[in-house]
Amino acid sequence: MNNNIVVAIDGYSSCGKSTLAKALAKKLHFIYIDSGSMYRAVTLYLQRNKIDISKEELVSEALKDIHLNFHSKDYKTHITLNDEEVSDEIRNMAVSEMVSEVSAIKAVRKEMVKQQQRMGRSKNIVMDGRDIGTTVFPDAQVKIFMTADPKIRAERRFKELVDKGENITLEEVFDNLAHRDYQDTTRKESPLTRAEDAIILDNTDLTEEQQLALALENITPLLRNR
Ligand code: DC
Repeated sequence: MNNNIVVAIDGYSSCGKSTLAKALAKKLHFIYIDSGSMYRAVTLYLQRNKIDISKEELVSEALKDIHLNFHSKDYKTHITLNDEEVSDEIRNMAVSEMVSEVSAIKAVRKEMVKQQQRMGRSKNIVMDGRDIGTTVFPDAQVKIFMTADPKIRAERRFKELVDKGENITLEEVFDNLAHRDYQDTTRKESPLTRAEDAIILDNTDLTEEQQLALALENITPLLRNR
């Protein structure tokens, strides 16, 4: 890592990682990178092209045709897949149901980690995901591990999806989150786990403002000591 600062935020699905990461990036004037959106965009590509994900060699071949980019518009980060804006489509349930399987594929992880490390080489960034503080940036200056009550997480996610017009039940969302937690924590390739030096942030009963204040309280001294 060069002299730039990396804030790594990891945790379970729908814990509010991206909300906190965006708020922190705004406050610190850092670039925000949502690493999960990269796995989602790869999943979307594989689904659209009907690639059999049980055949790693086919997935490896497909990766060569996948070009992901981030850009900012209206103060929001957008992701493009081969120059097509897919920020909304990658959040649908069809992608959510397959993304954990795709992100467990070794070739996919290797390529995504390489791209993520490249992004963190030249700029101050806040990156959220599952393995940022453990695998992508084990030397990150700031590491936060987020968690929250599974029921609260499902309710928050359910509300987001219903607001977007998805026809779904709370139970389906709960089951999807439980399934993804299981897959993410038990997979062979860099499973979701807390880095030993990560600050734990349980936001079950915290507002967004409280979370930001708590994170800044922990981060500011670390940044001052540089
Ligand atoms: O953060 P998210 O829910 O959008 O992530 C989608 C999936 O991608 C999630 O189920 C696990 C995977 N993921 C990962 O394996 N490693 C990351 N750094 C980020 C996400």
